Amino acid sequence: MKKINNSFIVLFAAIFILYGCQSEDTKSKHKELDFAVEQTQLLLDVSYKADKIPRTIDANGHLHWTRDGFDWTEGFFPGTCWYLYEYTKDEKWQKGAQFFQKKYEDHRFLPFYHDLGFVFNCSYGNGYRLTGDEHYKQVLIDAGNTLIGRFNPQVGCIKSWDVDKGWQSKRGWEYPVIIDNMMNLEMLFELSEITGDSKYKAVAIAHANTTMKNHFREDMSSYHVIDYDSITGEVRNKHTAQGFAHESEWARGQAWGIYGYTICYRYTKDPSYLKQAEKIADYIINHPVMPEDKVPYWDYDAAKIPNEPRDASAAAITASAFIELDAYSDNNYLDEAKLIINNLSSKEYLADLGKNHNFILKHSVGSIPHNNEIDVPLNYADYYYIEALLRLKALNNEPVEQLAQSK
Ligand code: GLY
Repeated sequence: MKKINNSFIVLFAAIFILYGCQSEDTKSKHKELDFAVEQTQLLLDVSYKADKIPRTIDANGHLHWTRDGFDWTEGFFPGTCWYLYEYTKDEKWQKGAQFFQKKYEDHRFLPFYHDLGFVFNCSYGNGYRLTGDEHYKQVLIDAGNTLIGRFNPQVGCIKSWDVDKGWQSKRGWEYPVIIDNMMNLEMLFELSEITGDSKYKAVAIAHANTTMKNHFREDMSSYHVIDYDSITGEVRNKHTAQGFAHESEWARGQAWGIYGYTICYRYTKDPSYLKQAEKIADYIINHPVMPEDKVPYWDYDAAKIPNEPRDASAAAITASAFIELDAYSDNNYLDEAKLIINNLSSKEYLADLGKNHNFILKHSVGSIPHNNEIDVPLNYADYYYIEALLRLKALNNEPVEQLAQSK
């Protein structure tokens, strides 16, 4: 009897140890990415059904899709699908990316928008990086050629917004350039690498240098809009469009700046860009109104802080940039990035499965001055959050190509 008991004990112990080991082995170390896969699968399903690209939630609480014709955010959902394909290697994500990016492929020829870098680099750019598809490369070349058509050598910048229509026509601007435009340079730098034609990089460098000269204040905060005289290249106005005031610090603008100059350093190794990125990073990290959880108010100077909406998109963009900057800098930006990502991954910002209209992050802001997208999810907040998670994963020596490209 005693012998049987002992055998049972040994058997149970063996099963317990075996089960324990197996569940340890099969348990993913990347629960945030796994959640992103599950949640985005639900969003993919409803998007297929609607045959539209998801952007946010509207004021009535309904899922809001990207605008037909052109929408600066249309590349982010396909881009998210590419990132999830990179993570899972499951072809359904590649198919999703291809299906949704095809919808706006012709927009590469539209000469009216500076956002072509956002739109095409995040989708076709990731697609080309992951598959080497020659058609994607051609799409990127076409988009790049259209984008550099907006460059004026007299000003030394790509024009952000046309001023002959829409709300932009009511501001008295002549040649507005927004800090966001730094994000379009990545596609131009990349195009020079993949085509061997330096014309794209030349435009990117000129734009970055002019922006460095005119967009930044002494404390390293940046203006949102610099309006130029298109004949002389002189600065006409230093304004805002999406911030609280002309002299305020719009949070996402600061995030675009740090990300933009980190990209410039990636492709040029020019130390002035590294210095610029470090100075912006230090300014963001040490900002006196940065909340403890590192998710900024939508504008650092908004009137009713601390009773102002946060912008999780700015936090996600900043975290992703910090991870890359940390690899180039002698300073430590990785710890700050991890803090931001940990906080975005908390109950406060991360949606429950199947909630938040299946977007991943809550609490972002599109544009308060336009009374648009206040305290909502945004497709680009999710895109940069996933990008940051993949970058962190790559740092643990996982075989993800994503960061390798950025070194
Ligand atoms: N590029 C527009 C924005 O950041 O809202």
